[in-house]
Amino acid sequence: MKRPIAALAGLGSYSPERILTNADFEKMLDTSDTWIRERTGIRERHIARPDETTASMARDASLQAMTEAGLRPEEIDTIIVATATPDRLLPSVACDVQALLGAKNATAFDISAACSGWVYGLVLGEAIIAAGTGERVLVLGAEKLSAITDYTDRSTAVLFGDGAGAAVLTRATGDRGILSSFLKTDGTLSELLWRPGGGTIHPPSEEMLKDRSYYIKMAGREVFKNAVRSMADAAGKALERAGLSANDVDLLVPHQANIRIIEATAEHAHIPQERVYVNVDRYGNTSSASIPNALLEARQCGRLEPGMVVLLVTFGAGFTWGSLVLRW
Ligand code: ACO
Repeated sequence: MKRPIAALAGLGSYSPERILTNADFEKMLDTSDTWIRERTGIRERHIARPDETTASMARDASLQAMTEAGLRPEEIDTIIVATATPDRLLPSVACDVQALLGAKNATAFDISAACSGWVYGLVLGEAIIAAGTGERVLVLGAEKLSAITDYTDRSTAVLFGDGAGAAVLTRATGDRGILSSFLKTDGTLSELLWRPGGGTIHPPSEEMLKDRSYYIKMAGREVFKNAVRSMADAAGKALERAGLSANDVDLLVPHQANIRIIEATAEHAHIPQERVYVNVDRYGNTSSASIPNALLEARQCGRLEPGMVVLLVTFGAGFTWGSLVLRW
């Protein structure tokens, strides 16, 4: 088996204190706790305060990951922020995070791959270490999805939450680390999950506010079908690249979008449900923050032990998707 180039030296996550429950949605929309739980598995989600930003949540997750890795901010050489909800369009969230942390020796930039962003960021971080351009890479997934969620649209409003997750990637010294990965994109399906307004094609305007094109729009059923098919396929491809099979997987940590997507993906990937980590019930879909948050929680509750094979799978707008195999 190939020796890993990069390993996760520390993890961190941040969830805002404020919680929005299904009962809260029952008061705002024509929906019910039963519908939301049965169709999505979600019970509650964390929502940022107005003064909490994508960058401030990313900073808080970073501080925890750096503490675990035993690194000070000035020792970080690269900051990659995966986000679909930048605080401003220019400059990047990563620049704000660098300033907030005082990571004065770091190069910082954002990547845009929606829910798949953190896994894309890990693959990029690994490549940076392989190329010798960096040794201590902070990979962040941070989202303030509440800022782009249409709370009058019951088919999307109930799905999303805010938060941030972080990992410090360093050069692997032994068997633990990233064993393989697989990433893919299909841009022809972008309009199944998108935010049509607010960019250069439809710049901010009164019209945009009226037609609500500033918010996330989604063809739920199509997204569902594509997500299951693509994540199961990606899981198989990354395992094959690592010379492993589904039987070797000790823990699957999927993107936490919807319990039915998670269960169907595990089934198609031939991984028993008891080897799947799920926390979508308490966070909803936090996009790029979901996998680092779930990974950290899995470790905190004793589901991860050294030497285990961990499979991450993800899917998001674009469509983007991918998977990554880790020796824990
Ligand atoms: N409460 C009550 N009824 C609702 C709600 C709600 N919150 N939302 C939709 N409905 C209604 C619809 O209006 C529709 O009513 P109708 O039959 O009278 O027209 C009915 O429920 C069925 O709607 P569908 O969209 O067909 O329901 P479905 O079973 O597909 O569930 C859902 C919808 C949960 C959005 C599902 O399609 C899904 O999970 N898709 C994936 C979405 C996702 O996770 N996206 C996140 C981004 S991508 C990613 O992270 C993987």
